[in-house]
Amino acid sequence: MPRIPVWAALVGLFATACDDTFFPVPPEPPPVDGDGYCAVQAFFAADCFTCHAADVALGDLDLETDAAGALVGQVSARWGETLVVAGDPEGSLLYRKLTATQGAAGAEMPPASGGVSAERAALVYDWIAAGATTECSAPIVVERHHPDGYDQPVVHGPDAKFQTERCVDCHGLDLLGGTAVACVTCHGGGWTAQCNWCHGTDSTGVPPRDIDGQTDPTLISFPPHRTHITAGIGPGFDCTECHLKPIDALSDGHVFLGDPTPGEAEVRFWWGRSPVAIYDGQSCSDVYCHGNGRENGSIAKSDGPRDCDSCHQGPGGFSQLLSPPHNAHASETCAECHGDTVDAAGAIVTPAKHVDGVVQVALPVEITRTGDTCDGTCHLQPHTGAVWNP
Ligand code: HEC
Ligand code: HEC
Ligand code: HEC
Ligand code: HEC
Ligand code: HEC
Ligand code: HEC
Ligand code: HEC
Repeated sequence: MPRIPVWAALVGLFATACDDTFFPVPPEPPPVDGDGYCAVQAFFAADCFTCHAADVALGDLDLETDAAGALVGQVSARWGETLVVAGDPEGSLLYRKLTATQGAAGAEMPPASGGVSAERAALVYDWIAAGATTECSAPIVVERHHPDGYDQPVVHGPDAKFQTERCVDCHGLDLLGGTAVACVTCHGGGWTAQCNWCHGTDSTGVPPRDIDGQTDPTLISFPPHRTHITAGIGPGFDCTECHLKPIDALSDGHVFLGDPTPGEAEVRFWWGRSPVAIYDGQSCSDVYCHGNGRENGSIAKSDGPRDCDSCHQGPGGFSQLLSPPHNAHASETCAECHGDTVDAAGAIVTPAKHVDGVVQVALPVEITRTGDTCDGTCHLQPHTGAVWNP
C-alpha cells in the first residue's frame, strides 16, 4: 500500500504548528513497476485518467481508449508539435510536458505538478527510445492513492471537510498541485474564498447545509443561524459575533491549515458584543445580546424565537429590569425617549440601533440632559434637577 511513510506523517504533525514557514516534504507517489507499453499505460491510468480518459478528454487527449494511437506520430492541434516521435524522447511533446520542459507548449503534465518523478519520466523515456511500440510482457496494475470514483464531489467533499487525511500534504499547502493534482483544475480559480463550496447556498456561507450535509432546518446544528444574520429586531450580525471568520478556506485555523479540531465548528464570542459569553453546545450563557441592556442573559438553542419580554421583562412587567427611573415613566411609551429605535406602537424601527451595544436615548425636546441630570418640563412635570440614576 503506497501510504504516507512514518517520517512524512511526523513532518505533517510538526507542520500543523508552523505551516507558514515549514514546507513538509511530500510523500513519494506510488511506484510503477515493469517497463514497456503496459507500464506506461498503468502510469497513465494512475496519474492522467482524471483528465484524459474516454469520458473526460481535456486538451482533446484520451489516454484510456488507445494511448499509443492517440500519441505516436500525432501532432497536437493546439501546440503544433508531435506528441510522441518514436525513438526520440526529447523531441516528443509528451516527454517534455512530463519533465516540465515543454517551453511555450502549455502546462507541464499533470498541470502545476512541476513534472512527474524521475522514475515515471524514465518509464516514458525508455518506452519512446525503444520505438514506442505496443509490446509488453504483462499488464501492470498501479495503485492510485484514492479509490476509484474519488473525483465525485459526494466522495471527496466530505473527506476534505472532515480532513480524513491532510489534503495539503500531497496537493500542496496552497492546494495548487504539490505532488498530486491542483484542486483548481476542476473547481476553477478563487474557489477557496467562495464559502458556498462548503457551506450554505449563498455567499454568506451561513449554513442551511451543515458540513456533514444535513439540510433539514430543524436538525442543522444551529437552527436560528439565518435569524441572526438577517435584520429583524436587531441588525443582521456578522459571523464575527460568534465565530472566528476566515477570509478563505486556506486561512490559518480554518479547514486545511492549522485547525486543531478538524470537522468541528468553533463558537467564539471574543470578537463580538459578548466577549465573555460561553457556548456549551446547547446553551449560551452571559450573552450581552440576550440581556436587558443592563445585565447579560442566557439562551438555549431550543428556546425558540424571542419577543420583547424575553429580554426586557422583569417580575412586574416590561420595565422592571430596566434602570429604576423607568418605573416612574411607566405610563409613557418607550418611543418618548428612545424614538431612534422604537416607534409609539413599540415596534423596532431601526434594527441597526437595537442590540448594537449602545443605548440610544433621544429625549423629548422639552428636556435637556447633562450627565444624569435632566432640565425642563415634560407632561407638566417640572424635571429641573431630576437625576436619572440616583
Ligand atoms: C488535472 C487535469 C490534467 C491531468 C491530471 C493531466 N492533464 Fe494533460 N492536459 C490537461 C489540459 C487542460 C491540457 C490542455 C492544455 C495544455 O496542453 O497545457 C492537457 C494537455 C496534455 C497534452 C497535450 C495534448 C495536445 O494534443 O496538445 C499531453 C500530451 C498531456 N496533457 C499528457 C498528460 C499526461 C501524460 C498526464 C498524466 C501524467 C496528464 N496529461 C495529466 C489536463 C490534465
Ligand atoms: C498521500 C497523498 C495524497 C493525499 C494526502 C491526498 N491526495 Fe488527493 N490525490 C493524490 C494523488 C496522487 C492523486 C492522483 C490520482 C491518485 O493517485 O489517486 C490525487 C487526486 C485527487 C483528486 C482527483 C480525482 C482522482 O480520483 O484522481 C481529488 C478530487 C483529490 N485528490 C482530493 C483530495 C482530498 C479532498 C484530499 C484530502 C482529504 C486529498 N486528495 C488528499 C494524492 C493525495
Ligand atoms: C477531477 C475534478 C476535481 C478535482 C481535481 C477536485 N475536485 Fe472537488 N469537486 C469537484 C466537483 C465537480 C465538485 C462539485 C462542484 C459543484 O457542486 O458545483 C467538487 C466539490 C468539492 C467540494 C464540495 C463538496 C460538497 O458537496 O460540499 C469540496 C469540499 C471539494 N470539492 C474539495 C476538493 C479539494 C480539497 C480538492 C483538491 C485536493 C478537490 N476538491 C479537487 C471536482 C473536483
Ligand atoms: C449568534 C451567533 C452566530 C452567528 C452570528 C453565526 N453563527 Fe455560525 N454557529 C453558531 C452556533 C451556536 C453554531 C453551532 C455549533 C455547534 O453546536 O456545533 C454554529 C455553527 C456554524 C457552522 C457549522 C455548522 C455545522 O456543520 O455544524 C458554520 C459553518 C457556521 N456556523 C458558519 C457561520 C457563518 C458563515 C456565519 C456568518 C455568516 C455564522 N456562522 C454566524 C452561532 C453563530
Ligand atoms: C473547503 C470547504 C470550506 C470552505 C470553502 C469554507 N469553509 Fe468554513 N468551514 C469548513 C469546515 C469543514 C468547517 C467546520 C469545521 C472546522 O472548523 O474544521 C467550517 C467552519 C466555519 C465556521 C465556523 C467556525 C469555525 O472556524 O469552525 C465559519 C464561521 C466558517 N466556516 C465560515 C466560512 C467562510 C466565511 C468561508 C468563505 C470565506 C468559508 N467558511 C469557506 C469548510 C469550508
Ligand atoms: C423618560 C424617558 C425614558 C423612557 C420613557 C424609557 N426610557 Fe429607557 N432609558 C432612558 C434613559 C435616560 C436611559 C439611560 C441611558 C444611559 O444610561 O445613558 C435608558 C436606558 C434604557 C435601557 C438600557 C438599560 C438601562 O436600564 O439603563 C434599555 C434597555 C431601555 N432604556 C429600554 C426602554 C424600554 C423598553 C422602554 C419602554 C418600556 C423605555 N426604555 C422607556 C429613558 C427612557
Ligand atoms: C435578544 C434580546 C432582546 C430582545 C428580544 C429585545 N431587546 Fe431591546 N434591547 C436589548 C439590548 C441588549 C439592549 C441594550 C442596548 C443596545 O445594545 O441597543 C436593548 C435596548 C432596547 C431599547 C433602548 C434603546 C436602544 O436601542 O438602546 C429599547 C427601547 C428596546 N430595547 C426595546 C425593545 C422592544 C420594543 C423589543 C421588542 C420588539 C425589544 N427591545 C426586544 C435586547 C433585546
